[in-house]
Amino acid sequence: MDQNPDLGSRSGIDWESAQALLQTETAAYVTRNPRSFALAQRAGQHLMFGVPLHWMNDWGTPFALQVAQAAGAQLLDADGHCLSDFCLGDTGAMFGHSPTPVARAVARQVAHGITAMLPGEDAAVVGELLCERFGLPYWQFAMTASDANRFVLRWLRAATGRRKLIVFNGCYHGTVDDVFVDLVGGRPTQRASLLGQVHDLTAHTVVLEFNDLAALEEALSQGDVACVLAEPAMTNIGMVLPEPGYWEAAQALIQRHGAALVLDETHTISCGPGGYARAHGLQPDAIVLGKPVGGGVPCAVYGFSAEWAGRAVRARHAAPGGHSGIGTTLSGNLLAMAAMRATLSELMTAPVYAGMLATAGTLADGLREVIARHRMPWCVTPLGARTEFQFRTTPPRNGGEAGTAMDAELEHLIHLALLNRGVMITPFHNMILVCPATRPADVQKLLAAFDQVVGKLVAV
Ligand SMILES: Cc1ncc(COP(=O)(O)O)c(C=O)c1O
Repeated sequence: MDQNPDLGSRSGIDWESAQALLQTETAAYVTRNPRSFALAQRAGQHLMFGVPLHWMNDWGTPFALQVAQAAGAQLLDADGHCLSDFCLGDTGAMFGHSPTPVARAVARQVAHGITAMLPGEDAAVVGELLCERFGLPYWQFAMTASDANRFVLRWLRAATGRRKLIVFNGCYHGTVDDVFVDLVGGRPTQRASLLGQVHDLTAHTVVLEFNDLAALEEALSQGDVACVLAEPAMTNIGMVLPEPGYWEAAQALIQRHGAALVLDETHTISCGPGGYARAHGLQPDAIVLGKPVGGGVPCAVYGFSAEWAGRAVRARHAAPGGHSGIGTTLSGNLLAMAAMRATLSELMTAPVYAGMLATAGTLADGLREVIARHRMPWCVTPLGARTEFQFRTTPPRNGGEAGTAMDAELEHLIHLALLNRGVMITPFHNMILVCPATRPADVQKLLAAFDQVVGKLVAV
């Protein structure tokens, strides 16, 4: 087999067989899900696009699968199929669906007040737990990781008096407008798919390739950068791991040029109870975490080092009174605080992670074995409880390389065929996540289904 990583995503595949498979799988999905179809039709009467969020149609299924209920690592659809869920709400349910400690805490709190625009005892406890877990002393709250990222950018621009932000090509940090700038042919380019965006995002956003220290130094040396916002390992354009020593060198540069390093751990929290940073001895200036921090209850957190929190507080005091542009009414509500307290104290713990990481290891080994047996030019990259297979022979070094290996058509076909075999993985790229409740039987089911599907794609 040719080992050139740039073979292209379709290498090794018999595309005619793939097209035939797509037809068979589409027909099978329609036949297997009549109740989902009926519900989707009904929702289509009054929901734009027929779904609560337009991108719920991006699963590549003929119509949206409808959920009856979910528990642990299992999801029951409207037609009574029990699916092994490796999507887990794209990380929102990384500790399993309705994990018992959170379900208990939420049930208790819901009867005693949901939102009051004031804190209770849980707020102090959550602050202590976050400090202990992540090593940053000062925290604030938001409803989503998107908002948390937005707010951190506001604080750091205010604290530094600088306007610019550095992000990495192919990044995703939620619906934060500032980050939707890509490198196209080496030029910063505002993403064309953004709707209703009237500002020139390239004016204040600098986009670089990941793992490129020279480019980072050059951008920082202009002296106008407030912060670098990054996932410690990129997870949203497929997986891109930092090269050894990258972050240590990058952070030294960032510090030398008076900017802050913000690590968005929303996905990389898959690495351990203190995220990628703690697992790898990094000390960022700020951390953002959303999705699973409330065990699936909507909430997010962001924390600062003492120095950056001090600068942010001084910026607030120096500004005229009135709206800061930071915070929303429901942020940090009583219910979210109860959910975070339960998650941080009972789920985001070393023993829980030990189990998840072992399961993910078995899964990654199994995927590699299937890929090797079918001689596909694909690679597998694990990141704690998260694993990704990518359509290239070697792991990509940056977002540009990772983006080239993506293939929405092929991904959708594989995901659809897996769904029809009772296995769900994330609809965007090939991310597979395990939770504490994922059983060996779920992993074997996924591997058997993957084996079957890859076997049908392979060129002979
Ligand atoms: C790294 C990262 N940050 C932030 C977000 C935004 O999370 P949310 O959609 O919950 O706001 C995402 C979503 O996928 C993400 O992957």
